[in-house]
Amino acid sequence: MIVGVTNTDPVSRSYSAWSEKYIDVCGSISQTHPSDRALVRTWAGSQTGTVLDAGSGPGQWTNFLAQHGVDVRGIDLVPEFVDHATTTYPGLTFDVGSFEQIDVATGSLGGVLTWYTTIHHRPEDLPAVFDEFARVTRPGGGLLVGFFEWPDLEPFGHLVTQAYRWPVGQMGELIEAAGFDVVETHTRTGKDVRPHGAIVARRRGAAALGSQMVPATTAN
Ligand SMILES: C[S@@+](CC[C@H](N)C(=O)[O-])C[C@H]1O[C@@H](n2cnc3c(N)ncnc32)[C@H](O)[C@@H]1O
Repeated sequence: MIVGVTNTDPVSRSYSAWSEKYIDVCGSISQTHPSDRALVRTWAGSQTGTVLDAGSGPGQWTNFLAQHGVDVRGIDLVPEFVDHATTTYPGLTFDVGSFEQIDVATGSLGGVLTWYTTIHHRPEDLPAVFDEFARVTRPGGGLLVGFFEWPDLEPFGHLVTQAYRWPVGQMGELIEAAGFDVVETHTRTGKDVRPHGAIVARRRGAAALGSQMVPATTAN
């Protein structure tokens, strides 16, 4: 299924051009950091309901979640990634689409994994993305965000296309503003380490949803 995107978006075009290289360098779960695998594995154990791997790329995290008992689906802008993931993990579902407009009803997902997939969004565009993650996640559902961490919010020259690095506190504020409670924050820094941040959050309950609790048809 193709969900409401054209291949004209600059991020999509850049990843299309880099897809083979990206799959080669980052496309296998064994190429991920052991601490990240431990975090995602633990998070997987606490998820109920369908989880969306939002920006699934080559599909390695989607497959990892499935191996740990999660009912998961991947979505990505880049057809080359979706083709690769579908071929490599034939039992799993991957769609070409944008997580900025997710094709599911409000509150229907158990959780969202967004692992290094909001790194290219301009800071002013990110609240709407987290609002969409909040819209689709059921009260009590999970959100796990991986990103480049840095003391100041700033753009930098990522190999594929410009990306941003975020202070973990500022990223947490955005996530909270969208209707999640931050449960855990993780950082990894040091010599020869690419500064990394991860945030585990939980969708606030129905009583606290306010304007987030709107039907899917009016939220898009
Ligand atoms: C750095 S890669 C990460 C891929 C994968 N999560 C991983 O850890 O290897 C960023 C991914 O986010 C995807 N992406 C960025 N914006 C997106 C959007 N609006 N909707 C769907 N995918 C998006 C890109 O196509 C790319 O595959």
